[in-house]
Amino acid sequence: EEIKIFSPATVANVACGFDVLGFCLDTIGDHMVVRKTLEKGIKITEIEGFDLPFEATENVAGVSALALIEDAKPNCGFEIEIYKNIKPGSGIGSSSASASGSVFAINELLGKPYNKTQLTYFAMQGEKMASQSEHADNLAPGIFGGFTLVKSINPLEILELPTPKDLYAVIVHPQIEIKTSEARAMLPNNVPLIDAIIQWANVGSFVHALHTSNYGLIQRSLQDIVIEPYRKRLIPHFSQVKSESMKAGALGCAISGSGPSMFALSHGLENAKKIELAMKKVYSNTQIDLETYVSKIN
Ligand code: HSE
Repeated sequence: EEIKIFSPATVANVACGFDVLGFCLDTIGDHMVVRKTLEKGIKITEIEGFDLPFEATENVAGVSALALIEDAKPNCGFEIEIYKNIKPGSGIGSSSASASGSVFAINELLGKPYNKTQLTYFAMQGEKMASQSEHADNLAPGIFGGFTLVKSINPLEILELPTPKDLYAVIVHPQIEIKTSEARAMLPNNVPLIDAIIQWANVGSFVHALHTSNYGLIQRSLQDIVIEPYRKRLIPHFSQVKSESMKAGALGCAISGSGPSMFALSHGLENAKKIELAMKKVYSNTQIDLETYVSKIN
């Protein structure tokens, strides 16, 4: 018995919602094949795309799968094949796609004993190893789809948010690697109250804008005054990508997760394509290789 799954890339933080907001992309993701075996335990039998550890206890997909079977105690084991398209360290949830894909697939093969929140919990165990911190803002949208808000991680509570029907995301991924653990280590422990007020007002108004399909309010809410000032220096041409995207009609443009990818939101596909072109143009005279993706948010 086996199952093939697509585990999508995701955008975490969404400007104002560090560690809580995220959304799912549908045009890029990893493929995985998971198979029941007589032998108990988790074995990773194939990894294509990138050089990652085969040892289950050292691989995020393996660690999350082990967390699940430790709880479920099934009468069988599982073999996992991973076909990665999402580059590790790209800022669009590479480790998260591996961590959530394996538990999603195993749950299906076991007849769905767990709900999506429980799956996110198991996936967090894998993600924790990769990023050296507990957060679920990439995992939740990968498992639930669309936009999610991680209301708390202990106890884990995830809210599904609605998506306005013409909302698109444009991703630009300059090909440098940023480790989430390092991009977290550079953040301050304290936030000035005056900044916190602006940031939480933005999170609240962004959520309201999603519920009311208010594109203007989405635009006015997509700013990050807490994290971006620290991390933007890690990303070549960050300010230019942002300003050119906005000129091309973006509703907002910010770092995707811990970078180096950046995302912009767009009202409509036509506009999204213009933004994609504008982003590409910024890098056209540089030595930096890049990938871009346009995805409808569902
Ligand atoms: N919220 C996380 C961060 C997402 O920005 O560090 C990346 O895993």
